Amino acid sequence: MGVNLGQVFPNIDCKTTKGDYKLHDFINESWAILFSHPADYTPVCTTELGTAAQLKPEFDARSVRMIGLSIDSVDSHHGWIKDIQSYAGLKGDFPYPIIAGTRQTAADLGMLDPDEVDATGMPLTARCVFIIGPDKKLKLSLLYPATTGRNFNEIIRVIDSLQLTATKKVATPANWKSGEDCMVVPSLSDAEAKTLFPKGFKVTEVPSKKSYIRLTPDPSK
Ligand code: BEZ
Repeated sequence: MGVNLGQVFPNIDCKTTKGDYKLHDFINESWAILFSHPADYTPVCTTELGTAAQLKPEFDARSVRMIGLSIDSVDSHHGWIKDIQSYAGLKGDFPYPIIAGTRQTAADLGMLDPDEVDATGMPLTARCVFIIGPDKKLKLSLLYPATTGRNFNEIIRVIDSLQLTATKKVATPANWKSGEDCMVVPSLSDAEAKTLFPKGFKVTEVPSKKSYIRLTPDPSK
């Protein structure tokens, strides 16, 4: 099982710390990030959920709705949120909902990490990240083992690339950050690129003499 890039993300029923809804209603017309966790009251997850909460303004600035998922009950999540807020130095309302995930949802979405098992020997949920577009289609998925925490700054960098390349015919090179030069996509001819990118593009010379590395300023700036 699992969801492939470009597929409509399953419209799962979400029982969350902020009410119950269908995932597509939660996403509405926005982008969304769904990130999963093996279980409540686990140390790496506590750091991840706190970091994600601290970065909420960055996700808001990109119109990305945040939703976490952990395989425990809503009541358990409410108790754990107090620890997350204490650990991360956060006060007030916790800024995004956490789904009370089930093993079935985790299996359906391809979230299980066979190398990490719970006390009963059942595989734990891996650390999945799903970025879903306003069309409800999966734009990116990341799958980390339970033992490795995610870099949420990298996730924001990736969202910048996804949102840019959703509307402009560019691709972003290794380690790209918003505002840096982008590559003209290979499917565009030079003539088309000249029309689409008024600031022009520069071809990088390579031994093959093929003109396929074409850099243009970030067209969103
Ligand atoms: C954690 O969140 O700390 C964790 C969860 C499962 C396995 C290993 C670490």
